[in-house]
Amino acid sequence: MTSSYQHHATLVNYMYQSKHTVILTGAGMSTESGIPDFRSRSGWWKDIDPLTVATEEALHKNYDLFHEFYSARLKGLGDIKPHKGHFIIAKWEQDGLVQSVATQNVDGLHHEAGSQNVDQLHGSIHSFRCHDCGMKGVKQQFLEKESCSNCGGHFRPNVVLFGEALPDDAWDSALFHIQKADLVIVIGTSLQVYPVSQLPRMTSGKTAFINKEIGSEQSFFDVTIEGSAGEALSVIEQLLNS
Ligand code: APR
Ligand code: ZN
Repeated sequence: MTSSYQHHATLVNYMYQSKHTVILTGAGMSTESGIPDFRSRSGWWKDIDPLTVATEEALHKNYDLFHEFYSARLKGLGDIKPHKGHFIIAKWEQDGLVQSVATQNVDGLHHEAGSQNVDQLHGSIHSFRCHDCGMKGVKQQFLEKESCSNCGGHFRPNVVLFGEALPDDAWDSALFHIQKADLVIVIGTSLQVYPVSQLPRMTSGKTAFINKEIGSEQSFFDVTIEGSAGEALSVIEQLLNS
């Protein structure tokens, strides 16, 4: 085995020893499906200040810009599909190697790949509500800027905006699994957004970090694998089956 796979082999051992494994993902898990992340060179926040589009204030003060941003993200998801990494994670859950996935992603690709136990910590871009009265809405009503028939308010996707609370059920479930975990595998996130950034430090289990960029702030992980999510997950899957 080449030395570069040494870290993958270490993680495979952790997976074999673990009775409760949690996978925590971020936007880097979806870039190989064609969805931009946020803070890489080609990420959404390179040209857009998130505070001008991804906050409640933006929704109230500049609904047109808020609507333009989330409509563009929705239209960009048109024919997006899960990649091999999503399917490997779903297979590991079916094989009993992974007990839950906590994701910051709102694209629904883990579900689409077959993962059952997924906590969507930042909500979903595929469901909608009236921001003022909470009435459920549908994509067309949002895309066509319809006013809420109940109160005349604006529709919005059910994604968590900066400054908003995370969905209680998703957070409580993710925290339960993280605190029970023998192993937490973090994939494709800069870990810059609170409170999800704290989750990897809230487990007493082993921790692994798979990411294109590994910084000194991630030196607390027990094992780190620098590279693309799809590639790393494929190598680990091969080692599990060798
Ligand atoms: N494989 C592995 N890592 C990748 C890949 C890939 N194919 N593509 C990108 N990455 C890495 C990047 O190097 C970066 O470190 O994934 C990380 C993505 O970080 P961010 O763009 O900051 O995305 P994320 O951490 O998920 O952001 C958290 O911020 O804007 C909010 O609500 C939004 O949920 C998002 C939150
Ligand atoms: Zn309403």
